[in-house]
Amino acid sequence: MTSGSKQELPDIKNLPVHLGVIMDGNGRWAKKRGLPRLAGHRAGMKSVKQIVNSCGEIGIRYLTLYAFSVENWLRPKAEVTGLMRILREYLLKEIDELDGKGVKIVASGRIDDLEKTALKILKDCIKRTQHNKGLVLNLALSYGGRAELADAVKSLSKDIKSGYLNPDKIDESLISKHLYHPEIPDPDLIIRTSGEHRLSNFLIWQSAYSEFYFTEVLWPDFGKEDLMRSLNEYQGRERRFGRI
Ligand code: IPE
Ligand code: IPE
Ligand code: MG
Repeated sequence: MTSGSKQELPDIKNLPVHLGVIMDGNGRWAKKRGLPRLAGHRAGMKSVKQIVNSCGEIGIRYLTLYAFSVENWLRPKAEVTGLMRILREYLLKEIDELDGKGVKIVASGRIDDLEKTALKILKDCIKRTQHNKGLVLNLALSYGGRAELADAVKSLSKDIKSGYLNPDKIDESLISKHLYHPEIPDPDLIIRTSGEHRLSNFLIWQSAYSEFYFTEVLWPDFGKEDLMRSLNEYQGRERRFGRI
């Protein structure tokens, strides 16, 4: 289900190179229907499928989906276990089609903390699709922007300690190079569903000059038309990067 009127196709010459999505509102979607929260997460997978397909079709290069935050570990155990199960099921069910469409799967976050089987499946998917040339699908899992920066500082410190790096050489670009996926450019556009207006620790370093699109639509209701609406609005924005 999508909301609102049919949207014009966006100008393919001015697409965001990297789109980030904070997929929020699954719990509220389920609650509205008197269903358990996990039913909302499951319904959210349909939106994931639609958005990944649409991004691939229109030619977006990088899509980062915020699927599970470091803070989400604090949710009740049953919900966390259910989310790990849904992650396993999603990857197992979709991998053939994703691979067939040339999607390259990568992950950002402290993925070693994921449930063991889910991690193994994720690593298999990453390996299997590593040479694909289509959409790069970056799954933010056990991801936190502050955790990513802390991990970058740790890695820089090791280079200093081993005598390989002079601390005077640390600049913004070197910090960027120590993030989880330095080859992925900063997000041009970040979408957040469900009416919340915050980053919740998503790509805090990389979003310094991102455009933001907030919508009341809950993630399981977010479809292709909503994506097109966000892209059309993005294309009407003037990005100045501090200049005039
Ligand atoms: C987003 O939906 C999915 C995850 C954070 C894993 P929520 O589960 O946060 O849904 P709401 O915000 O409670 O509605
Ligand atoms: C952000 O949503 C994390 C993901 C979408 C995975 P949350 O629902 O966890 O964020 P808060 O708690 O409302 O800030
Ligand atoms: Mg939420």
